[in-house]
Amino acid sequence: MEEQKKKVILSGIQPTGVFTLGNYLGAVRNWAQMQEDFHSAYMIADLHALTVRQEPADFRKRILSCYALLLACGVDPDKSVVFIQSHVPAHAQLGWVLACNTQFGELSRMTQFKDKAAQHADNINAGLFTYPALMAADILLYQADLVPVGVDQKQHLELTRDVASRFNGIYGNTFTLPEPYIAKEAKIMSLADPLKKMSKSDPNPNGCITILDEPGTIVRKFKRAVTDSETEVCYREGKDGINNLMTIYAAVTGLSMDQITADFAGRGYGDFKAAVGEVVAEHLRPVRERYADLMNNKDYLTECYRKGAEQAARIAHRTLEKVYKKVGLLPA
Ligand code: TRP
Repeated sequence: MEEQKKKVILSGIQPTGVFTLGNYLGAVRNWAQMQEDFHSAYMIADLHALTVRQEPADFRKRILSCYALLLACGVDPDKSVVFIQSHVPAHAQLGWVLACNTQFGELSRMTQFKDKAAQHADNINAGLFTYPALMAADILLYQADLVPVGVDQKQHLELTRDVASRFNGIYGNTFTLPEPYIAKEAKIMSLADPLKKMSKSDPNPNGCITILDEPGTIVRKFKRAVTDSETEVCYREGKDGINNLMTIYAAVTGLSMDQITADFAGRGYGDFKAAVGEVVAEHLRPVRERYADLMNNKDYLTECYRKGAEQAARIAHRTLEKVYKKVGLLPA
């Protein structure tokens, strides 16, 4: 691909804790692949995470450990700009200007706001409400063409486009309108209840694999995965447990569903569960090892996130300056 034709992508992940197998297969692994074809920027959305009350000492550790997880998953600081949102003040600065260009009615329609307000009824803070304006700033600062996100963030991206095109209309062309990039995402379900998305908050710890689980733990959790009362390993409506295991196996091995069915013909679920556990454990082994190495080398991590912040700030500042000028702020 020619250098000047490369599109810009940006994505972010909140530092809520160690990534699950679902986060990894559905998102972060794709980021590592996409950095080959795009100008890519990836960030830890720590300011977004403040919309929920955090325990400060724990939060600080988690931000660093999530940064290390990104690198462990293959996001390469030499190929992408990898940074921590709060290290680049332009995010909060543009976030404010965009909040002033976003309507109360628009924010009120965000389904994630409604869901989170219901979940945290004791802390429906203003940040939770204006969250999409900050997310719009994250994206628009880098003039991103594409934003890889899960379906749950699609509405925020549409709002970003609305705000950007309105701003462009009033003040003249300023922002690139970003497109959502919904990857052919492997949606990974709980091993304990395959109708629910895999989540760290699963009440049953066997339902969720994290990317730092030990190989033995991974194999054991897969052995206990909930399936149905049939025996054939095939992808079919209603076989949610098996479908989920096949999705995981396919995502890790690259095999098609038909190939998997053929390979496990006559072998039953027990063999299949053991095989899925094995391939996942082996696949995640280097990720876990890289993570441990990185966490033992804090100086290197610090160097990476400082370099990332510098690179990000340089790009972000150009956009912020333009915006400040267009809205009529007096240059400092
Ligand atoms: N809101 C996203 C989430 O919770 C995280 C995020 C913050 C993000 N800023 C972003 C994603 C910008 C894409 C682009 O998943």
